Amino acid sequence: MRVLVLHGPNLNLLGEREPEVYGKQTLTELNAAIVAGGEHLGLEVRCEQYNAEGAIIDALHAARKTCAGVVINPGAYAHYSYAVADAITAIRIPVVEVHLSNVSARETFRRTSVTAAACRGVVTGFGAAGYVLALRALGEILAG
Ligand code: DQA
Repeated sequence: MRVLVLHGPNLNLLGEREPEVYGKQTLTELNAAIVAGGEHLGLEVRCEQYNAEGAIIDALHAARKTCAGVVINPGAYAHYSYAVADAITAIRIPVVEVHLSNVSARETFRRTSVTAAACRGVVTGFGAAGYVLALRALGEILAG
């Protein structure tokens, strides 16, 4: 079963970007852990990262033809991008949202996710482990 893990804006800077909030792991290291976690769950995971909103939307559109489901960390787009939310709704495959940090415990603007409503569920605040938890949830959804 193929699954796309889609990282949004600024996540290419993981490791150097606010490590006290997002951890010291680089995106390359995080992706290796995600792929290994996916393998353990019997999922073939491909990881992609885009800063641009349109590129994320294009990746979601492409995933509807190639993947059974998506795990997405929309980054700050979660808080205001109705275009990403619409793309998640449009593709009609299950999507699970992830945030490394506990967005509910941070600035007020991070407490709203307009993309979350389009997703099957949200995992927030568990760092890198959150992606594997999201993959597990997605695997269960896909198994029916
Ligand atoms: C984030 C939380 C967002 O508020 C922020 O804009 C990010 C990362 C997270 O993974 O905790 O870029 O999505």
